[in-house]
Amino acid sequence: MTNLILLGPPGCGKGTQSKILVEKKNFLQISTGELLRNVVNSDSDIGKEISKIMKNGDLVSDEIVVTMILKEISTHPACSFIFDGFPRNIIQAEKLDEAFNQQKLKLDLVIFLDVELNILKNRIEKRIRESNSEQVREDDNVDILLKRINTYKEMTFPLLEYYRKQEKLVCVNGMETIDKISEKIALLI
Ligand code: AP5
Ligand code: MG
Repeated sequence: MTNLILLGPPGCGKGTQSKILVEKKNFLQISTGELLRNVVNSDSDIGKEISKIMKNGDLVSDEIVVTMILKEISTHPACSFIFDGFPRNIIQAEKLDEAFNQQKLKLDLVIFLDVELNILKNRIEKRIRESNSEQVREDDNVDILLKRINTYKEMTFPLLEYYRKQEKLVCVNGMETIDKISEKIALLI
């Protein structure tokens, strides 16, 4: 069993590459963004709170997100996981390490999709064009993207050093084509 994290800024291709790994290699994708959007769509009070945070480009509380992740891990034993969009800060990374240690699981690899931040606007605009109007994400517009990039720089970027120290970090050039990137990832796992 192989467990991976896909790390990188908004629009770098975490979701795209996760879906390829699910299809080709039988991984289970755990996307905190998708789990949170499901709660938002449930129209509950907590969903309304989460929606406000996401529309502001901020991080949802560690408590909520970590609880979701622990539930996903425990309800899918014997799966190879891809974490897409988690962890997003050092606290979340430490909680994941703790959970993996307790459950005798191993984090094998952290793949950083390295892209120039100035292309992300084009990527997000492309995603908006490719979605029909009901599918467009509430946080997919250029103003919120800039906020999400700032949150990424401040909170998530330090994880590179965290995983470099654990000797788990591999950088993949995220500026190449989707197919080329997936070929490179396939060689790593
Ligand atoms: P989340 O849903 O995780 O969004 P994100 O990290 O901002 O990333 P995106 O989903 O926008 O981009 P992606 O990297 O998946 O790119 P994609 O493959 O779609 O999080 C949303 C929000 O939820 C956060 O802002 C936060 O509020 C909250 N949240 C989530 N996780 C949290 C956590 N752990 N803690 C707290 N809060 C959390 O690609 C984008 C586009 O580019 C697509 O059109 C695609 O076709 C295209 N594309 C992809 N790769 C390439 C390529 N190589 N070349 C050309 N085009 C490409
Ligand atoms: Mg995504």
